Amino acid sequence: MTENRILFQGYHSKIISAKEAANLITDKMTVGSSGFTKAGDSKAVLPAFAKRAETESIGITLITGASLGFTTDNDLAKNNALYRRMPFQADAGLRGKINEGDIYFTDQHLSETSELLENKHLPQLDLAIIEAAYIDENGNIIPTTSVGNSASFAKIASKIIIEINESIPLNFKGIHDIILHESYPNRQPVNITKPDARTGQDFITIDPEKVIGIVYTNLSDSAAMVTAPDAKTSAIGKHLVDFFESEIEAGRMTPSLMPLQVGIGKVANAVMSGLAKGNFENLTMYSEVLQDSTFELIDSGKMTFASASSITVSEAYYKHLLANFEQYKDKIILRPQNISNSPEVIRRLGIIAINTAIEFDIYGNVNSTHISGTKMMNGIGGSGDFARNAYLSIFVTQSASKEFNAISHVLPMVSHVDHTEHDVDILVTEQGLADLRGLAPRERAKLIIEKCAHPEYKEALIDYFNRACIRGGHTPHILEEAFSFHTSYNETGTMKQNCLVNLL
Ligand code: COA
Repeated sequence: MTENRILFQGYHSKIISAKEAANLITDKMTVGSSGFTKAGDSKAVLPAFAKRAETESIGITLITGASLGFTTDNDLAKNNALYRRMPFQADAGLRGKINEGDIYFTDQHLSETSELLENKHLPQLDLAIIEAAYIDENGNIIPTTSVGNSASFAKIASKIIIEINESIPLNFKGIHDIILHESYPNRQPVNITKPDARTGQDFITIDPEKVIGIVYTNLSDSAAMVTAPDAKTSAIGKHLVDFFESEIEAGRMTPSLMPLQVGIGKVANAVMSGLAKGNFENLTMYSEVLQDSTFELIDSGKMTFASASSITVSEAYYKHLLANFEQYKDKIILRPQNISNSPEVIRRLGIIAINTAIEFDIYGNVNSTHISGTKMMNGIGGSGDFARNAYLSIFVTQSASKEFNAISHVLPMVSHVDHTEHDVDILVTEQGLADLRGLAPRERAKLIIEKCAHPEYKEALIDYFNRACIRGGHTPHILEEAFSFHTSYNETGTMKQNCLVNLL
């Protein structure tokens, strides 16, 4: 235990074990915990609470920034320690329980959770658990690899437990920019006019009276799973690079493009790596997660600055980053997620938002969350915050997946809508890029099928569209057939069955 991580005298008597901290949680508490896409999460207290729930009937409502690392969400779910979870998750075990109806999941825009809490639309927090690099002379927290909702949790919660993570270098101080909104009706503009703007303080304010325990840990964040670019993701990246280059040529953008936001998922990260191959310079990022691809672009000299709410990278990059932190320190900022994802700031900066779709339809509606319209995958995350307000809203996905291309990701109608056609400018698959700006639904359908659909599904989609047009309408559909690709997949294991039926 290193004494210099608690510079506030009043806290020394509050050091307890993770087990003792977990025992301070009572049944049905609403707990807010740090943690955003695996970064800066509770590595001691929540796991100890999950362990406690192995033998005790006890549960909580758990609100975080986004997904947690390690097996924490899985262990909590397995031991029935969660009544409700929000605003995002990405764990197979928890996902299973959510889809069984055993745990309620409230899927929220990541910019909104702290707003809903502040405005008292959600139950108030009984407890906040927040990871810190260290505690300063006044009892305030220097956060670690994420900010997420921690500043709001600390303000709103009745009690606070701090997890000091000794694996985080002390020189993390300075990369965070923390501001809290004024309450309505006195809300002021967020004064961010470029990605590297600083508007707040580099620590989270804590009321020392609320602190009921301090726990030491020494664990690194769990690593992001980074998939190397393959033929499909490289093709998607190439289409995007070509598109950006044509936008520069048309005079709509400079080689610095506009600040980039890149979502999670294997496609998005690989696409971002593709930008290194383009003729771009002085790129910036205003996103919610800094991934390997961000640091690759910084290392290659193509990116000058990146702002987000967390750093979630592979094990190799994590080690590299911590060992060489000084060289990155003046190139990154971590912000609260209602600021990194602030609609106001996103619109002002003119963000290029690149997010991954599970599926999209011939009119450009996007499903980011539900498999076959019913089963939750991860959640909407920040994709909606960015897509609605972006300068250019781009969604990428593979045109087809699984053996024999059994699943088409371009469909007559999406089985769940997260992003409506109004929020989507560009769709990209490995087949091509559809630029939907200014187009009417019938024009969009033709272009999306031509550019994005997999060749094995094109005929069936054209057939659907043509027959729908005979029925008429601004957005032509055959409602009794609109989900026939999905039902065919559920019944036969391939969406192509539907093609055969349609063609008979
Ligand atoms: N029936 C069954 N499975 C289907 C399906 C259907 N109708 N449609 C898609 N799938 C499967 C795919 O085949 C694929 O499975 P596989 O992994 O076994 O190949 C899976 O669903 C989709 O995941 P994947 O292809 O691995 O995509 P990804 O890793 O790129 O992630 C999202 C895509 C949409 C799940 C992910 O980006 C996400 O959670 N987005 C929402 C949050 C977000 O966008 N945040 C942005 C701000 S950070």
